Amino acid sequence: MKKRTLKRIIIMTLSVLLLTSCDSGDIYENFNSEAEGLSCTATVSFINTSTWPVDYQIVLAAFNQNDYPLITKGISKPAVGDTIQLSLNGIPENCTEISIALLNKSKRLVNQFFTHVITNEEREKNLIQLTATDLNLLDYSRIQQQFFSNCINCHGASEKAAAGLFLTDGKSYDAIVNKTSSKDSTAKIVLPGFPEKSFIIRVLEGKAENLHYDHTNVSFNSETEDIELLKAWINQLK
Ligand code: HEC
Repeated sequence: MKKRTLKRIIIMTLSVLLLTSCDSGDIYENFNSEAEGLSCTATVSFINTSTWPVDYQIVLAAFNQNDYPLITKGISKPAVGDTIQLSLNGIPENCTEISIALLNKSKRLVNQFFTHVITNEEREKNLIQLTATDLNLLDYSRIQQQFFSNCINCHGASEKAAAGLFLTDGKSYDAIVNKTSSKDSTAKIVLPGFPEKSFIIRVLEGKAENLHYDHTNVSFNSETEDIELLKAWINQLK
């Protein structure tokens, strides 16, 4: 092989190596986090992960007093007992709070499992460090926001509530837990620990007698997950 050809091959190999190393990410990432200002790191763990949403999404997100977050980082379902490390870079300056939140399919806020208001000190340091452990996926506020939002049009959002049953925020829990059904005096609307014996599940599955309105016609935000979520919540109630 001629010397010149050999030299050319060496130069080509070197430039290929250089190009690939530029692509490897490190340089780019460092450059990004420094250039983009406010960032957040979070140590997070969850309980009741069997009710991790599929249609909806759990995210680390920054909000500005609005139901749509300005920036999000999706969180994948962790293994039971796992603690996860998350980071969110390039948080816009007009954001006021960081949250671990449940978003619906149009990325609108459904429930916040954890909220932190950004402080001036954190803005100066350009860094927010959070720890949020044992966030409960069966938090009653999720049940209210995700599940009972399917019902309130008839059950209390206007001044009327079908069957006198208010399923609105602040009223629903006391109206259902250990309360005798107005349609079946032998049944509790929600019997803690027993989803299948709870009248509410019989109503939703079309198994309740003496009812004029067929609840299998109710349209759900998530047809596959919402009733399962309610059952899981009743199951762990004491
Ligand atoms: C389109 C209107 C409508 C929607 C939406 C609706 N309901 Fe109802 N619901 C009714 C009516 C009407 C009754 C009374 C039926 C009757 O008197 O026969 C009722 C009765 C009930 C009862 C029986 C109350 C008792 O005292 O036993 C329960 C439980 C109930 N609804 C739960 C729900 C839940 C949970 C949702 C949401 C997933 C829901 N409903 C959505 C109209 C609605």
